[in-house]
Amino acid sequence: MGWFFKKKKAVDLQYIKTDIHSHMLPGIDDGASSMAESVHLIKQMRDLGYKKMIITPHVRFGSFDNDTAEFESRLRDVVYALQESGIEMELEVGAEQTIDEGFKEHFRNGELKHFGRNKYLLIEFPFNMLPMNIKDTVFDLQSAGYSLILAHPERYLYLREQKDMIDYLHDSNVLFQLNILSLTGFYDKATRNFARWLIKQDYIDLVGTDLHHQKHLDGVKKALTDKYLHKLVDCDRLMNSMF
Ligand SMILES: [Fe+2]
Repeated sequence: MGWFFKKKKAVDLQYIKTDIHSHMLPGIDDGASSMAESVHLIKQMRDLGYKKMIITPHVRFGSFDNDTAEFESRLRDVVYALQESGIEMELEVGAEQTIDEGFKEHFRNGELKHFGRNKYLLIEFPFNMLPMNIKDTVFDLQSAGYSLILAHPERYLYLREQKDMIDYLHDSNVLFQLNILSLTGFYDKATRNFARWLIKQDYIDLVGTDLHHQKHLDGVKKALTDKYLHKLVDCDRLMNSMF
């Protein structure tokens, strides 16, 4: 009960150091729509204490059919714009790959955009149902050397009824990345409660902003005093600073 009622001060983001989920390549998905917006948001991330950001554009069949081969050159444009503005922030680019009908072809063609030293791949599930044959998919990806990070598990509300699947994924070394925003009720109350439950069960390995626009950043700022975020930081198992 000790951590439950105390601590109103903001979490020190220098401890978290690296944000591993954001949509800051301008015009490529539903994130920042211009270079000016990217620069403005990244500057605020630096002011909050972040030292590094992994930018993870959506790759989703039918809505974000992005070509990952373009991501590095688009990242260089952002790096250049930051330098021009005198903003220090280390950047790396990956992708947020939805496990959907387009995913297998990207996998076959070697188009999955990973990041970090251990071929980290940020995956997203559809919001309405668990992907078919997910156990096989996890096995195939891990056999190919990918280290899997599941983006915002708290947002797949169907998982609340599938605790055995949560255990399976966790026991299979799929890392769980919580959206900091979920803790404020930004998405909805059910997501917030599921996020809290996942934290209490010690399932969360990483946190991310999933930053698309200013409202998200304002939400992240609001979440910094949240007692559950404090609990996550205090238990010292967040892996963000390794990236
Ligand atoms: Fe995202």
